[in-house]
Formats: sequence, C-alpha cells, structure tokens
Amino acid sequence: MKAGEARVLLTGATGGIGRPVAARLLQAGARVLLAGRSPARLAALARDLEPTQAGRCDWHEADLVEPASIETLARAGAQWRCNVVVHAAGAPAFGPAGSIPVPAIQRVLDTNLLGPMLLTQAMLPHLARLARSQVIFIGSVLGAIGLPGYAAYCASKFGLRGYAQSLRRELGGGPVRVQYLGPRSTRTAFNAAAVEAYNRATGTAMDDPARVADEVLRVLEDEAAERFVGFPERLGVRLNGAVPGWLDRSFAPHRRALADSSAHLPQQG
Ligand SMILES: NC(=O)c1ccc[n+]([C@@H]2O[C@H](COP(=O)([O-])OP(=O)(O)OC[C@H]3O[C@@H](n4cnc5c(N)ncnc54)[C@H](OP(=O)(O)O)[C@@H]3O)[C@@H](O)[C@H]2O)c1
Repeated sequence: MKAGEARVLLTGATGGIGRPVAARLLQAGARVLLAGRSPARLAALARDLEPTQAGRCDWHEADLVEPASIETLARAGAQWRCNVVVHAAGAPAFGPAGSIPVPAIQRVLDTNLLGPMLLTQAMLPHLARLARSQVIFIGSVLGAIGLPGYAAYCASKFGLRGYAQSLRRELGGGPVRVQYLGPRSTRTAFNAAAVEAYNRATGTAMDDPARVADEVLRVLEDEAAERFVGFPERLGVRLNGAVPGWLDRSFAPHRRALADSSAHLPQQG
C-alpha cells in the first residue's frame, strides 16, 4: 500500500534499524506506532522524530519474550487501527555454536522467532477484518544462508522465513499480505566488535541502516513477497537455495575468521 495509507505498528523501533525505518515511514506520510521495551527510550524517540511526525507517531511498550505483553501490544495495535505490522525487533547471537550459553539461545529464538509469531497470531483477527493489510518481517540474509558462527541466529531467521512463507501461502487471496525482507550485515550496535572483525576478514559488506529503511518503504509500497538486500548476497541466496552442498566449500575463510574473532568475544549470557 502507499505509505500515506499505512498505519504501521513497528517493533524494534528504538533499534539501529528501527529508528531510521520509523523516520523514513513518517517522512513518506505513514503513521507509526513505535514499540520497544523502554518507555523512556520510546518517548525520547518520539520526541526526536517530532520534526517529521506531524502528530502521526505514538508509542507502546512491550517485551516480545513475554506472551502477556505481546497480547497487550496486539490489543493496543488493533485499537490504534494498525494496518501494517513491521517486525524489526531482534536479538543477536554470534560465536562458535558450542559456546553460546543456553539462555542466549533461548533469547534469540524467543525474540526473533516466537515473539514475531505470537504477535502476528494475536494481530491476525484484526488484520483480516481490514480491506487490506500487511505483515513485514525483517529477517536477514542469514535466514537463507547459514554462515559459520551464526547457528542459533540462523535457526531463528530461517525459522522466521519459513513462518512467513507458509503464512503468505495460507492467507493468499485474502486481505493480509505477508512479506519477508532480508537485510545483509548493517552498521548498528547489534553487531559486536567480534562480528565487525569477522566481516572485515571475510570481506562481508556492511550497509548503512538508512539503506534498510529505504528497503522497508519499498516493500511496503510494492508488496514484494520476499527481498534480500545487497549484491552478491542476493545471488548467494539463490545459489544456496539451489546447491547448498556446493557452496559448503567456500566457507573456510569464515571458519578462520570465526576462530580469530572468538578471542575477542564478550561473555554471553
Ligand atoms: N544489524 C544487522 O547487521 C542486521 C542484519 C540483518 C538483519 N537484522 C535484523 O534487523 C532487526 C533490527 O536489528 P538492529 O540492527 O536494529 O538491532 P538493534 O540496534 O540491536 O535493536 C534491536 C531492537 O530490538 C528491540 N528488542 C530486543 N529485544 C526485545 C524484546 N524482548 N522485546 C521487544 N523489543 C526488543 C530493541 O528494543 P529495546 O532494547 O529498546 O527494548 C531494539 O529496538 C533485527 O531483527 C535483526 O535481526 C539486523
């Protein structure tokens, strides 16, 4: 739909990607309901957005690992007459698979997969009553290509992509359009110094979050089913889908970079 018709519930609004997404959507004429865990951060963000919002921005606190909080957010979103949900909240996990503590695995799966699923499920009765509505999942290129060092994160984002694809097909022909946007690595606090070192060592490009914000506006308006950001990542996604075993050979530099960067990893809990 056109941004001017969109009333967007945006999770992860306070994040490195969420903030420019909120600003871009407001600038394009959308209304935005900012969601995050901290009322103070949300209120400050709404104030920062003041010049672009023209009264079109509101906020609601919610913790996406708490089912009761998700229910409350869904009710607030429906009352606010949201017709688009953009799921941008997320948690990182990087390091050798055997070294990620159980609570960190739990957090990444709850935040990146279960939370968006439960919020979508809770919003669907409302969204399905509208003439037209959209659910946009911010996944990742790592929802389609498994990289050394990202086993838990990839599990969450591959899962999210499967959920989005299945739901899109289930709801096809109805009013709710389900979409998946997969950014590549993006310069935000999401990525620890160890990830930046890994990216440098493997020649992995990092985008400015403004680029992701532009892509969110683009998928909102063109309603693409699935899009990945950046080249050669888009080609990598296709090749990996067709011949994953063949690509296995190309990850020796990533294994070396993982081993080198692991020395600088903070304790995760
Ligand atoms: N940065 C990248 O390289 C990259 C690349 C591809 C995809 N992505 C995806 O893009 C999305 C945004 O990433 P980012 O770079 O903006 O991350 P970020 O800067 O770390 O921000 C994370 C956002 O998620 C919210 N959040 C985390 N846990 C939450 C919870 N339990 N309940 C509610 N909100 C929660 C945070 O809100 P509060 O802390 O304020 O509550 C914050 O707004 C994520 O889904 C990520 O997987 C990121």
